[in-house]
Amino acid sequence: MTEPEIGSSFIPALFKPSALLPIAQHRDVLLYLIETFPVTVVVGHTGSGKTTQIPQYLHQAGWTTNGKQIAVTQPRRVAATSVAIRVAEEMRCELGHDVGYSIRFEDMTSQSTRIKFLTDGMLLREALVDPLLTKYSVIMVDEAHERSLSSDMLLGILKKIRKKRLDLRLIISSATLDAESFLNFFTNDLPVTAAAMVPAAGAVPGGDLGKIISLEGKSYQVDVQYLEEPSEDYVETAVQTIYDIHKNESEGDILVFLTGREEIERVVQKVAEYADTLNPNAPGLLPCPFYAGLPTDQQMYVFEPTPDNTRKVIVATNIAEASVTIPGIAYVIDCGFVKLRAYNPTTGIDTLTATSISKASATQRAGRAGRTKPGKCFRLYTEASYNTLPEATVPEIQRSNLAPIVLQLKALGIDNIVRFDFITPPPAELMLRAFELLYSLGAVDDYAKLTRPLGMRMAELAVEPMLGKALLSAPDFGVLSEMLTIAAMLNLQGGCWFWHEGEKKAHETARRKFAADEGDHITLLNVYHAFITKGKKDAKWCRDNYLNFKAMSRAVSVRNQLRKYLEKFGINVQESLGPEVLTAGGIGKPEKIRRCLTAGYFAQSARMQPDGTFRTVDGETVLYAHPTSLMFNRKADWVIFHEIMETGSKVYIRDVTKIEKSWLTEYAPEYYQIEKARQII
Ligand code: CDP
Ligand code: MG
Repeated sequence: MTEPEIGSSFIPALFKPSALLPIAQHRDVLLYLIETFPVTVVVGHTGSGKTTQIPQYLHQAGWTTNGKQIAVTQPRRVAATSVAIRVAEEMRCELGHDVGYSIRFEDMTSQSTRIKFLTDGMLLREALVDPLLTKYSVIMVDEAHERSLSSDMLLGILKKIRKKRLDLRLIISSATLDAESFLNFFTNDLPVTAAAMVPAAGAVPGGDLGKIISLEGKSYQVDVQYLEEPSEDYVETAVQTIYDIHKNESEGDILVFLTGREEIERVVQKVAEYADTLNPNAPGLLPCPFYAGLPTDQQMYVFEPTPDNTRKVIVATNIAEASVTIPGIAYVIDCGFVKLRAYNPTTGIDTLTATSISKASATQRAGRAGRTKPGKCFRLYTEASYNTLPEATVPEIQRSNLAPIVLQLKALGIDNIVRFDFITPPPAELMLRAFELLYSLGAVDDYAKLTRPLGMRMAELAVEPMLGKALLSAPDFGVLSEMLTIAAMLNLQGGCWFWHEGEKKAHETARRKFAADEGDHITLLNVYHAFITKGKKDAKWCRDNYLNFKAMSRAVSVRNQLRKYLEKFGINVQESLGPEVLTAGGIGKPEKIRRCLTAGYFAQSARMQPDGTFRTVDGETVLYAHPTSLMFNRKADWVIFHEIMETGSKVYIRDVTKIEKSWLTEYAPEYYQIEKARQII
């Protein structure tokens, strides 16, 4: 009876493969490169071990001694949490000790944390407090190919930090072969246009500054099939394809790419109904939804092993394209679309639109089927339409509302943003629009300098600028306690309600209990107060009222954290009991709240038309209240809204509250001064 024997028999299967991962044979070279060069670009297929193994190699090699940490950034919250859980399991430590994660409003780290997974946005936030990110010996920007807004910005900041911190090591990891552009970004100090004029000869990519390493991960043949004719309804075609695979193909799980929650729920429901009709002894079908708004515990189902004699069908958004590893996928169904945020600087409308994917995305999606054995990819479009797809997706920075980014850069002390070293510079109109909005919110002054304290505080608060402005204006209106609650409720991904299919009526009745005439924001406030007083310790109360207990508990924690930010600014929060009408000075609480919301959201206002639709201030865009909004079937005149989303041919607004027209000019005189004012009148 020797120790090692007992030990080895206890190694769960889960931990065995890491030595077999493609990355394992590159371990020494990787460590050598990281030791020797400031920048290392790592390229390898999804699943090759970049995210889970590199931080462990670094930890073992001593990069975490002397209290230093390793940061690994992820563009998505779910990726940050799921890989942290995985690495903690592999290292057999409790989550939050040696291995932790930090995402907005959720910090799972401690003094002893050595490997920290965090969203790229969180690392940017840390730079506000510690501009040189001194606690990290190595920073790995993971999934850099996704070109998320925050990771692009992070690359620019890290380029600056690196020059001041010779000890810092950077790892840029990417699932695609576009590695040279990342390395060139770090090695090239000339503006892109000037550099392009220098003859390329003699320019050794990287030089002494960095190297590229490719982990030629094993991948199997993926047989790609196209439709003969375009599909009228790809959701329906996806369902049929699932049935066909289940009937005709050998075992292996299915991963379906769709664009959003509604499509996903439709497919999940159909597959679940179909699964019920299958012979109980025949192989079963188990549909699992997977999208960002899904509560974390439900997202985790997709990572669990598939039960015996069952085929799992993971129905996902783009979230499953690259940043998370889902074992066992043999079949991919690709609808060819992705929901992309695109901001129109002329109208100021941020829309989430289903857009054709790029060839790079299509390849990446198909690749998910060939990780463990040869697979098949069913593209729900024709080969001819594949050929018309763009090569790569436009980076987020070229199609986003840049106000939050500009605010952050300013707060990081980068004053000349136009000359900031972006890996891809954003279009001038987007920059201009961002400055206009920040100026009208009072975050920057006439010289485009960050105002203090307002602008600086808006940057430090972990909410978007309009909400930040409303929150920071709340003390002036005497509604800080209420705005804190509203801000927390607006930050719940996926909202606070449970939508049970087929129970819409009951759900409506439940919601009516909380509904406020003034609109969605005060309704959210009512929901929160009811939860605090009646449902906080009572999950059943939540179920009876169609409220998501987890989401509501999260609102409580988000609210606490926002309150801490305010207290750090020296703003005292006097908790009030509820939205009851307190008529101090003749104005009731609800009106004060609506005025305060207007002070933040004046740029997102609209007016209801006799037919029940809304029109933007300039009269050019028709907006519809989203079915989840109280204003869906109520009368209103002027309103402000929190979110705007274009689906199909309609532009929907969500979280809508009634306001008075005169408040717009009262709280945003400059914004509504010029031609817009004329149209209002
Ligand atoms: O980052 P990269 O895509 O290169 O790979 P990874 O996320 O480090 O995953 C390496 C391997 O770990 C995968 O091939 C999976 O077998 C396994 N893994 C897993 O089973 N469950 C996770 N949550 C993460 C990884
Ligand atoms: Mg990864």
